[in-house]
Amino acid sequence: MEVIQTKKELREFRNGVRGSLGFVPTMGALHEGHAALIRQSARENERTVVSIFVNPMQFGPREDLAKYPRPFERDLDICRETGANVVYAPEHADIYPAGFGSAVEVSGVGNHWCGASRPGHFVGVATVVLKLLNRVQPDRLYLGQKDAQQAALLDKMVLDLDLETEVVVCPTIRGAGGLALSSRNQYLSPGEKAAAPALYRALMECGRQIKMGQTSPQKIAEIFQGLLPGYDGWRLDYFGVADPVTMSPVPVIDRKVRLLAAAFLGTTRLIDNISAGPGLEPG
Ligand code: PAJ
Repeated sequence: MEVIQTKKELREFRNGVRGSLGFVPTMGALHEGHAALIRQSARENERTVVSIFVNPMQFGPREDLAKYPRPFERDLDICRETGANVVYAPEHADIYPAGFGSAVEVSGVGNHWCGASRPGHFVGVATVVLKLLNRVQPDRLYLGQKDAQQAALLDKMVLDLDLETEVVVCPTIRGAGGLALSSRNQYLSPGEKAAAPALYRALMECGRQIKMGQTSPQKIAEIFQGLLPGYDGWRLDYFGVADPVTMSPVPVIDRKVRLLAAAFLGTTRLIDNISAGPGLEPG
């Protein structure tokens, strides 16, 4: 496995790849969720590039950019073990040189949920991922369902901007009690860690109500709000019932939807989502 920092070295590597190339963009602090994406890419492609770049453009002014974990050597071990061929870890100035001034805005998909509660977040995500895609030129882009709105938004960007890459969305990897793995889970205190799976449990209970015939998004939101506070530290950011492709709120649940939620546990923001629909097993 090679560690590459510059655009030039990356281009040299790209020019030497004969078969298909898979790409897994990350911000590091890798866990089993990232590992699953890398393994799937390694299985499906001749070569796999993993990028590690904590992208300042997608963090709000009061968010956790400074304290975001950066265990680089451990990340390299995980990449090596899961079959990555290249780790691309550019410096800040290589991605955002002095005078950088462009931004990618994907309309529609980013309007609600994380887009509404984190202004500018998805512009930062789309801009960095477009830059990375231009540099890596992958045949396939691997994203996690854990960030469903991000995956839907990047899928739309790829379609709208004629990018020659296939978007592959991989299932959410969960830990104890169903808690979605996240680099941010390490901020949680032991008490918060024990409380955190309530988010997933509440989503699943809502999914079961929908399976059994509840069609009102308002009713489902009320059920969710009634279930979440199993622990004092919870503060709900949003709960929504959305179309799985456009990510717009649905007026009535008469087909497959995505239940999306974000909540603070203490100062840590957790997000999760599941698929649900009339007669469908949630998950
Ligand atoms: P990061 O949070 O590091 O996540 C990198 C990729 O791993 C994303 O596609 C995310 O959805 C996926 N992922 C995270 N946790 C997962 C889990 N529990 N199960 C499955 N997949 C999981 O998302 C970002 O970084 C950034 O926004 C990025 C796309 C790299 C742009 O900066």
